[in-house]
Amino acid sequence: MAIIAEQRADASFVAALEAANLHPLWDRYQRITPIRPQPQDAPFIWRWRDVEPFLHQAVKEVAINDIERRALILAHPAFGNDTTTTSTMLAAFTVLEPGDRARPHRHTGAAIRFATDAEGAATIVNGRRCDMRAGDLILTPPMCWHGHINESGRRIIWFDAANMPLIRGLDAHFFEPGNPGANDFWQVDEGDERLWAEAGLAPDGPRADSAHSPKYRYAGEATRRMLAAMAPGPDGARTLRYVNPATGGAVMPTFDCAAMRLSPGGTTRKRRVTYNMICLVVSGHGNSRIGEHAFDWSQHDVFTIPHWTWASHRAVGGDADLFVVSDRAAFENLDLVREEIE
Ligand SMILES: [Fe+2]
Repeated sequence: MAIIAEQRADASFVAALEAANLHPLWDRYQRITPIRPQPQDAPFIWRWRDVEPFLHQAVKEVAINDIERRALILAHPAFGNDTTTTSTMLAAFTVLEPGDRARPHRHTGAAIRFATDAEGAATIVNGRRCDMRAGDLILTPPMCWHGHINESGRRIIWFDAANMPLIRGLDAHFFEPGNPGANDFWQVDEGDERLWAEAGLAPDGPRADSAHSPKYRYAGEATRRMLAAMAPGPDGARTLRYVNPATGGAVMPTFDCAAMRLSPGGTTRKRRVTYNMICLVVSGHGNSRIGEHAFDWSQHDVFTIPHWTWASHRAVGGDADLFVVSDRAAFENLDLVREEIE
C-alpha cells in the first residue's frame, strides 16, 4: 500500500510566503524563541601534557617575524573552522624565546594574559610596563595598545584569552597594527600603573572615562593572599572576582576574570549560569563533572564550561586553584545573567 505523505493544509501558502521573503511565525516560533539556551558545544578539556610539546615545537617551526602570533589556540571541535574555544571566547598558549618581541597593536576585542611560566616577560599596555610574574593577570582592554617582550634568558609561556568570537559575531571588530620600528614603545616603566597597585586606595579627582579597569596588572601574589584569607562561598569554593577598582564591577565591559580555590574533602554544589567559562588549572589536581562529562585535571590543563551546563568541582590531595575567564560582564550589561545552584 502506498504511503501518501501528509500534506500541510497551509503548505502552498507557506511556499508562496517564502517566495516573497516572508516567514510565517506559526511555523518557526520554536526555533525563534527556544525555551532555554542550547549550547552547541559539549564541555571539553585540553591537557597540558598534550599541548606543551607542540608549544616547544612551534618555536622551531614559526619564523621570527611571526612571533606576535606564535600562539596555539584551543579550538573546540564543535565549532569546526571557526577557531574558537567556546561560542564567545577563545583561549590559547603563547610561547616567546629570549629576546622575542611581539609587535604592538590594538583591537576592539578584549584580551587578557595569565602568567603560567612567564617570569622575565613584560606586556606593555598603553605606555605602561606590566611585568609578568607567576600567577599575574594582565589586561589588554579594547583599543589599548599592547605588545610583549621576553627580556629573560629563558623560554616563556603564558595563557591568553580573548573575546574576538563574540565581537566578530556582532561584526564589530577593528584591528590596528602599531609601528614595529618604534623603539620608544618599549622604553617605558610602570607609569600610572602605580596609582592602582594598592587595594582600597584610588587617586581622588576626575574619574577615568573608559569603560574598562584603569588597572592593567593584577599581581598573582595578591590573588593568592586573598584566596587564603577568604571563606568559602555558597557553592563551597572560594571565588574572587578581579574588579575595576574605580567601579567595583567587571574589569572590562564584555570580559570577566575570576580566581577559584578548591579545598579537598568536598565537591562544590552544582551550578549553572547563562554565560560561558574557560578554566585554567593554576595549581593542584582535581576533577569536575560538567554536564554529562567528567574530567580529571592537573596543572595547566584547560577546560570549558559551556553556558547553561551544570558544573561541580573537587580538589584532590590538596588545594587546587583555577583561573576562570567568562563573558559574564557582557551578559550583565545585557541583563541576561541567570544562575541556578543545586
Ligand atoms: Fe592583541
